[in-house]
Amino acid sequence: MQRRKAAVPRGVSHATPIFAASAQGARVTDVDGNVLLDFAGGIGVMNVGHSDPVVVEALKQQADRFTHTAFSVAPYEGYVSLAERLAKLTPGSFAKKTLFVNSGAEAIENAVKIARHATGRPGVLCFEDGFHGRTLLALSLTSKVSPYKLGFGPFPSDVLRVPYAYCYRCAYDASFPDCSFACVAALDDHFKRYADPQTIAAIVVEPVLGEGGFAVPPLGYLSELAAVCRRHGMLLIADEVQTGFGRTGRIFACEHEGVEPDLLVTAKSLAAGLPLAAVVGRADLMDGPVEGGLGGTYSGNPLACAAAHAVLDRFESGELLRRSEAIGVRIEARAREWAQQFSLVGDVRRRGAMVGVELVRNRETKEPAKHETDEIVRRACERGVLLIPSGTFGNVIRFLTPLVISDDELDEGLEVMTACVAAVAAPATAH
Ligand SMILES: Cc1ncc(COP(=O)(O)O)c(C=O)c1O
Repeated sequence: MQRRKAAVPRGVSHATPIFAASAQGARVTDVDGNVLLDFAGGIGVMNVGHSDPVVVEALKQQADRFTHTAFSVAPYEGYVSLAERLAKLTPGSFAKKTLFVNSGAEAIENAVKIARHATGRPGVLCFEDGFHGRTLLALSLTSKVSPYKLGFGPFPSDVLRVPYAYCYRCAYDASFPDCSFACVAALDDHFKRYADPQTIAAIVVEPVLGEGGFAVPPLGYLSELAAVCRRHGMLLIADEVQTGFGRTGRIFACEHEGVEPDLLVTAKSLAAGLPLAAVVGRADLMDGPVEGGLGGTYSGNPLACAAAHAVLDRFESGELLRRSEAIGVRIEARAREWAQQFSLVGDVRRRGAMVGVELVRNRETKEPAKHETDEIVRRACERGVLLIPSGTFGNVIRFLTPLVISDDELDEGLEVMTACVAAVAAPATAH
């Protein structure tokens, strides 16, 4: 840790003090030989589990053949066949094309470039509590100021940010379904006060907020946003970086509503830890930029493509999707027990295995319990469970465990968490 502090900038944070030595399935072993249950999945990247044998074998075979030629110099089949597979797998029956890049942020950047090119409009509409990455344009769409944006401005203009359907903290003090999506209706007001809709190229939206605290919008929300896009000639860009590849019980979260985004951005669990991200979209839009307008040296690296093929193979039977839902049900049941026992738990929400538990100091005022959340995360790690928080106020526990976790492992981890929540939630506050 001393060497890390001396050699690596503090801006690169680490949620736990451990150093990884190896990982298998839903378990991470540290350099001291401690085995930890992984409820973080490398921030939602390891849906198929650590060191999945199918992925490892695909990587070995590809490494024996070649590791890089640059697709823009000497193309290879693995990139093309992965694009074909993603076109079939993503929502939308229209013709699609796929661009591969290296990270979620880079994919968001490219989706916006493609949308601007297609519409000739500069603007982007995004959401409070949204997270889209750390590169400058993606960062300008990201909502949380500290730590992500501190000292990094100025940011690109033409970004309109509006409240998300974060029902627990509704910006309009309304409640669903009585509100009939007041947050969407309010867009007309924003279009009068802040930005002409004819200057907006796209709405960029996470189907469920990731870093922003696992806020799960009511079903129908994405369809409402899609209708706004149609009305004003904007494109719908779904950021499925965190929600994708089975996290919500479907391959992509948009499927819960049958919404077909014009452009879908995916990364994280797409390639089981290899740096790969994709923009999959309507072929006519994707073909807008001229030759050389898209790409990058490492984009669609052959090892990453091989890993992604193996991931898609693993999803083919449907078993991982069924597990996702079952895991979510099991976690939610336990979290609801905590909510009954401890007023610290303000809200429990879920889509598939994407479960968020929001902690508050007071259920009336909803004062965020950030310190308590950090303390639960710290104690859980000490007792062998890797957890990460989320939320603009850092007060939401999120679950991103690999979908291969067994019921026994899950229960063991939840047992540890129950003890940590109980220790942190002062019994006097329970009612
Ligand atoms: C929804 C969403 N979009 C974009 C990103 C950025 O991805 P990356 O860290 O690969 O740049 C993230 C990362 O957490 C994310 O959760």
